[in-house]
Amino acid sequence: MQQSGLIGKTSVRDNIIISDNPRYPIFKELYIKQKKAIWFPEELNIQQDVLDYKALTPVEKEVFDMAVGYFSSSELLVGNVLVNGFFPLLIDPYAKMSFTTQMFVENIHSDFFESIMQSFAMDRDKLYRITQTDPLLYKKQDIIIREVDKLTYGKGDPYTVAGRKLILKSILLNNIVMEGIFFYSTFAHFFAMKDTGKMKNVVSGVELVLIDESLHLQNGIEAILILLDETPEIVQDEEFVQEIQTVIIDSASLEFEYLERMFGGKTIYGLTFRELKRYLQYITDRRMEELGFEPAFHVDENPLKFLQKEDFKKLTNFFEVSSTEYTNY
Ligand SMILES: [Fe+2]
Ligand SMILES: [Fe+2]
Repeated sequence: MQQSGLIGKTSVRDNIIISDNPRYPIFKELYIKQKKAIWFPEELNIQQDVLDYKALTPVEKEVFDMAVGYFSSSELLVGNVLVNGFFPLLIDPYAKMSFTTQMFVENIHSDFFESIMQSFAMDRDKLYRITQTDPLLYKKQDIIIREVDKLTYGKGDPYTVAGRKLILKSILLNNIVMEGIFFYSTFAHFFAMKDTGKMKNVVSGVELVLIDESLHLQNGIEAILILLDETPEIVQDEEFVQEIQTVIIDSASLEFEYLERMFGGKTIYGLTFRELKRYLQYITDRRMEELGFEPAFHVDENPLKFLQKEDFKKLTNFFEVSSTEYTNY
């Protein structure tokens, strides 16, 4: 099997030289972009939204609380996955720099969601446990945990095709399904709040989280594309390729179920289940395309009009590069 410059099991003595001609220049680029995007929750004025929070209707409050609760433990989960999952197998210096920057930024995100809960005196204990007590949120985390646990603590062998498949699926579930599909679905709830004039300061922080997550998504996509390029045996395994697409579509279905339960038959922050489902289909299609698959739902336009507004476009053009190619908010 072809050697990989990205993953392996090496001594700590190895790979301690940065080349001026990096093997994977994309990770140097992603490291620099993440570095430029670093921010701190203290720079925001979340407390100014306290009156807004108190004035939310019961259904609005439920959507907000569930979104904050889901993110609060999921940010820590992403950190766990990186630390104990595929990160120890990365050997390329810039890939390590890019993924350790992601790890750092996940701390910033945890810190941000923690500061929201503190500022509005929310029930932290209940919200941190929401992914244990709510059956659908539990499932959303469990599909990631079950797969990544097959790899943790050195269980994956980067010198076999089977081991590389495990690594690929872990990256897929963490960086594409969780960060690029589930997180994007919940981002839409926050951005709809801002569109209806609510929770503006909180949402300004969520916008920064979105920029970061678009880069984490790119980290994952690039790592997967490199793994596939270096392991043609995986691409030739039609059953596995099909399985990957099924994982993505099944995950989207789980999110449809969650959205239907929260929004079915109601309009909250101007959003309906129908619109949210179509938005999620649009996002899932972009993820499929970014991985080189055919889109599953054929939704070519973002149905959420408020995500097409000028201020939002400015945000996603933050890096003056084709970030929209990856994010499509
Ligand atoms: Fe994050
Ligand atoms: Fe992330």
